[in-house]
Amino acid sequence: MTDTQVGIIGAGPAGLVLSYLLHLEGIDAVVLEARSREYVEKRVRAGVCEQPTVELLREIGVGERMAAEGLPHHGLSLRFDGADHRIDLTALTGKAITVYGQQEIVKDLIAAHAGKGLPIEFEVSDVELHDLDTESPRVTYRDAEGNARELNCAVIAGCDGFHGVSRPSIPGVELTAYDHQYPFAWLGVLARTPPSHEELIYTHHERGFALHSMRSPEITRLYLQVDPAERIENWSDDRIWAELEQRLETKEGFSLREGPVLEKSITPMRSFVVEPMRYGRLFLAGDAAHIVPPTGAKGMNLAIADVRNLSRALKALLRDKDGELAASYSDRCLRRVWRAEHFSWYMTSMLHTDPNADAFQRRLQLSQLRYTASSTAAATSLAENYVGLPFE
Ligand code: FAD
Ligand code: DHB
Repeated sequence: MTDTQVGIIGAGPAGLVLSYLLHLEGIDAVVLEARSREYVEKRVRAGVCEQPTVELLREIGVGERMAAEGLPHHGLSLRFDGADHRIDLTALTGKAITVYGQQEIVKDLIAAHAGKGLPIEFEVSDVELHDLDTESPRVTYRDAEGNARELNCAVIAGCDGFHGVSRPSIPGVELTAYDHQYPFAWLGVLARTPPSHEELIYTHHERGFALHSMRSPEITRLYLQVDPAERIENWSDDRIWAELEQRLETKEGFSLREGPVLEKSITPMRSFVVEPMRYGRLFLAGDAAHIVPPTGAKGMNLAIADVRNLSRALKALLRDKDGELAASYSDRCLRRVWRAEHFSWYMTSMLHTDPNADAFQRRLQLSQLRYTASSTAAATSLAENYVGLPFE
């Protein structure tokens, strides 16, 4: 049996940033993670960090490697009609994004925890949450050796992603879920080859969406829209490169640099939000409470914005005995969540090729793309959402 102030379920970006922010406020926390350290440090996911995310990580002292190795980007391309239409993020907003892999952020945060002796328990199982509607909730689980353990807390933070145990621990009648499915999935590829272009390219093509991104001067990250029922076994490396070639081609000619595929996987796309993001002494944050389709690059950034709010609310609740910020936590998060939901839906709808769209809808889509690329007002709207709206 262990006592702590905050029991954090999940060592993704949400759980780790929360634990570190709480530590800086002098609040104890224990992070429980189902996977091994090696697994979470290798899991390839998001790559785009909004400016507010970058600033937060720098302010709390875990941004050093990101500053050295992250790739600052001042613009991106929308590619359609066989040509690039650059959105100059910095000219339009004065801000930029940084391309730096989510697993690198996770590595940096785990190293920062280790450096300060902050507890993260990996490879836990059978995690169950109890007494959430009391002031002393508990977590029972098995540690990596299989021993039964119990964590007594003042608050539990559910940062365990979409498939975690936290959200399902809340009685169904307490939550309203908003769910939207898309007829698309992304096939993501990590390849050992230098990027073919200096910036990200979001491509609308009749064969489907494609995205050119990167991780470093030697590593390229690419995505292809595929049917959600597609199986990764059907996508040989040759087929992936051939499809990317076709979708990324331009009238001027574009040469895609190919190389060994290091990793490939298919991720379905959905939009999902539960309201409220709190039940009693359980607070949900990140993917445990909401999912966005990846086109707007918002998922990880939103998770970090949630826990920035949560750390402030928990500091007020646990240190100053003031429950006001905790009471408004869900409403304050949900304003940003819904903005990101809308932006992600807009980017997804504008850029993907919907197999169910009629000719009228396809014309509307092309008009939206052309307007976004040619109107300063429309491009600014895209840019200010993409680089990240200021924290409240
Ligand atoms: P997570 O990163 O999911 O972390 C949750 C943690 O909880 C995990 O480490 C998990 O192992 C752990 N956990 C789960 N259940 C339990 C349990 N019962 N007990 C203890 N621990 C548990 N976003 C983008 O912007 N761009 C992308 O390209 C992109 N690609 C993605 C690809 C995939 C396959 C997935 C799943 C997501 C992707 N996302 C992407 C979204 C982005 O990665 C997430 O929004 C982000 O990881 C959310 O962080 P989180 O900390 O809330 O959740
Ligand atoms: C990446 C992922 C995204 O979802 C996106 O919109 C842009 C880039 C990436 O993994 O690099």
